[in-house]
Amino acid sequence: MAEYDVTGETHKEQESPAKVVQEKKDPLQEDHRSKQFADLDRVIGRYSRERGQLIRILQKAQEIFGYLPEEVQAYIAEKIDIPVSEVNGVVTFYSLFATEPKGKYTLNICMGTACYVKGAQTLMNALKEELKIDEGETTPDGVFTIKSTRCVGACGLAPILVANEDVHGKISPGEIKKIIQTCRKGESVDNKKH
Ligand code: FES
Repeated sequence: MAEYDVTGETHKEQESPAKVVQEKKDPLQEDHRSKQFADLDRVIGRYSRERGQLIRILQKAQEIFGYLPEEVQAYIAEKIDIPVSEVNGVVTFYSLFATEPKGKYTLNICMGTACYVKGAQTLMNALKEELKIDEGETTPDGVFTIKSTRCVGACGLAPILVANEDVHGKISPGEIKKIIQTCRKGESVDNKKH
């Protein structure tokens, strides 16, 4: 994949990926990043001797970093001495792994037929306008990511918005604003649970 070219480049200077990042970050971010790589080292040290533990290592790495950027994939590959392509192949195969940072809240608009007919595209447009980002992007404050999804099996409630795990049915553009405001206050999206 094309990503390997990029990863390959990084890899040449990859002796210490943390260092590459440190050059661009402020001291607080440097500390945080160093700690993340130290945590990753501990995970690798714990699992790398067992065969077939790549997925476990990647899961833990995603918990640490929030996602699996190329530099982290390259770091793991180097540490456990396997090709980066093997790591990347696993990351891209399993949908549970993310290669882009995700916001605290992922707002998914269902674009299945029933939802589409009931105005899913209008909802998507309203969401993009409200958050000033495109589909697949994350707001600069790291709170929201916009995604679209296929039918989630609740067509009777179309149009659907799924906020993290919570399914919201018969949503109007106005309600999207309310959901965003609720999230911004740091509250749960699902008021029913609280
Ligand atoms: S099409 Fe949206 S839930 Fe089925």
